[in-house]
Amino acid sequence: MHNTVRFVLDDKIVEIDFTKAGLKPSTTVLNYLRSNPLHKGVKEGCAEGDCGACTIVVAEPGNNGDLLYKALDSCLVFLPMIHGKQIITVENLAEKGKAGILLHPVQQMLVETNGTQCGYCTPGIAMSLFALFKNHSSPSREVIEETLTGNLCRCTGYQPLIEAAFEACKGGPDHFSRREKKVMTLLEGINSGRETLEILTESQSYYKPFTLPEALRLRKEKPGAVVISGSTDVALRQTKKRELLPVILDISGIEEMKSFTETDRDLVFGAALTLEQVKEISDKRIPALNKILRVFGSLQIRNIATLGGNIGSASPIGDTLPLLFALKANIKVCSSGSERIIPVEEFITGYRKTDVRDDELITEVIVPKTPDGVILESYKVSKRRNLDISTVSAGFRLKTRDGIIEEIALAFGGMAATPKRALKTEQFLEGKKWTRGTVQDAMKIVHDEFSPLSDARAGAEFRKTVAANLVLKFYSETT
Ligand SMILES: Cc1cc2nc3c(=O)[nH]c(=O)nc-3n(C[C@H](O)[C@H](O)[C@H](O)COP(=O)(O)OP(=O)(O)OC[C@H]3O[C@@H](n4cnc5c(N)ncnc54)[C@H](O)[C@@H]3O)c2cc1C
Ligand code: FES
Ligand code: FES
Repeated sequence: MHNTVRFVLDDKIVEIDFTKAGLKPSTTVLNYLRSNPLHKGVKEGCAEGDCGACTIVVAEPGNNGDLLYKALDSCLVFLPMIHGKQIITVENLAEKGKAGILLHPVQQMLVETNGTQCGYCTPGIAMSLFALFKNHSSPSREVIEETLTGNLCRCTGYQPLIEAAFEACKGGPDHFSRREKKVMTLLEGINSGRETLEILTESQSYYKPFTLPEALRLRKEKPGAVVISGSTDVALRQTKKRELLPVILDISGIEEMKSFTETDRDLVFGAALTLEQVKEISDKRIPALNKILRVFGSLQIRNIATLGGNIGSASPIGDTLPLLFALKANIKVCSSGSERIIPVEEFITGYRKTDVRDDELITEVIVPKTPDGVILESYKVSKRRNLDISTVSAGFRLKTRDGIIEEIALAFGGMAATPKRALKTEQFLEGKKWTRGTVQDAMKIVHDEFSPLSDARAGAEFRKTVAANLVLKFYSETT
């Protein structure tokens, strides 16, 4: 067991002993950096993952012996989550040499395109563009826009930022590429042991195992611990509700839970795969899943939020859930010595409640391959296209033979306390002709089948109308 956290910052290993430093282990990376006079460029705007002012880049060893660079919202990341990784902030971008300071291509282009005014958002934008630079040499406009969805700028406007992104990415290898080997050696030194982190302070205990058996052992030993995977839901309990989470079990370091396998029958997603990884995997394999993930949070959120976390939250507006219902996905949960496989519909047992027991973890999401002839679709209706929570979401499945509906599933989010299928409407449709007339009759049933809440996002009647209209949209897109 280790009781300190180590990571690379400014090309050196930093070690934090939380007891000596008087910090609780769930100190966010943002608050840690803000306390360091050399890294005050990182800003706090919202403390809830919405503005991107706190964006940093985290580099970690990838599978090909190189470093992977990802932009994250540092306000949602607890320090032990970056154990064994490199933190890069805006202060690290420029190269400081004998000849003076040489701006990084993304900084240089922000200057040349006049991409900044008040400057509050600029460090976060520079970091998002830096991650883009490291991952794309010739990004499309769509990729650039996706990169910037998690960075709000109230004054400059996005056109100069898009131009800066196009131009900066044309630049060749930067000083980070030249130093990658050195950083890799430092990170290997930290990661060699893979011993569980056990950080015990007066007010908080934080456990970070690196293997599944160890995580399951701790899960059994600490049944009251709050499990975190990406922490994009849980961190808000601390940053917004000011809750103290006395015991945390952090499963973000477990490689066994980050795998993807494809068998003859199934697509098997590790529960700790990030939603950005799931988005990439599903691109050709499950386009409807890829589609809903393109409008899920922002890139910074998807780079850390996990599929298991979206299911574990059991939110009525969890965006992957209606489609997982339509896909007939199964959830695998494990405890030390046993495992269960549960259909996702049964797994969600109530408002923000799941069937997972105190000694279990969600380990896999098993999606049966879709037989030929089955159509799948997903929809998200929200006030803004990007970085917004769904007002209504949907996952639909349809199979017809000779124009007759053989199989239909219409699952909705935002219409009840849990994601829910429109069973009465499905019953009405089965065996009927898939025609506009039938669908218009079905729309009346969908409209009356749910009793959604009215809240800040929408009134109940609006939600009912949207749900009915989505069925019509589905019809028009399938004929
Ligand atoms: C700015 C912002 C935008 C967002 N946008 C969206 C959006 O567009 N759509 C949407 O659906 N959600 C959105 N969310 C919510 C959140 O990002 C998602 O629910 C995300 O999938 C949670 O994943 P996570 O790994 O971060 O979960 P965590 O916060 O780590 O965990 C969430 C819950 O799941 C449990 N859990 C996690 N993993 C496991 C496991 N393996 N076994 C058992 N329990 C587990 C945790 O104990 C906790 O109760 C957003 C959040 C933020 C802050
Ligand atoms: S402070 Fe706004 S996203 Fe982190
Ligand atoms: S330059 Fe002012 S918020 Fe972006």
